[in-house]
Amino acid sequence: MPETYHDVRNRIASLCEGETDEIAKMATISCELFHSDSRFDWVGFYRVTAPEMLKVGPYQGGHGCLTIPFSRGVCGAAARTGEVQLIADVNNFEGHIACASSTVSEIVLPVYNKSGELIAVLDIDSDRPDAFTQTDAAQLTEMLAESFAV
Ligand code: SME
Repeated sequence: MPETYHDVRNRIASLCEGETDEIAKMATISCELFHSDSRFDWVGFYRVTAPEMLKVGPYQGGHGCLTIPFSRGVCGAAARTGEVQLIADVNNFEGHIACASSTVSEIVLPVYNKSGELIAVLDIDSDRPDAFTQTDAAQLTEMLAESFAV
């Protein structure tokens, strides 16, 4: 039975209270989310480190690829469009980057700072088909805003 977002969001808020370092917050959020829900088998951030370029940041799970251009993959699509990507079956996503063959569905959300600049994307992968819902999108979007756009 997955924990409610209420609990994990409270824990993230209290652990990260007063923290301004983005990497420290990304590491804490990856860890807390990863252990909160059995649907999640990879949780991590890709950071914007150069124009149109994402570099892997803190994560939990098997190894992820190190660099993703905005032009590629689900992470690239989230970064390029600024919109949440809810992918029920990655096999139907043109240009999906398979870091783990076990990944079936994923959700990727853009992460903004308080100036409204895109600083990263949050990628959550599942080995279950169609694992993510609009509730995940809404809850995670709010959590990211509370954590990074303050
Ligand atoms: N699936 C992602 C790549 C990152 S890894 O799965 C950790 C994508 O297509 O953007």
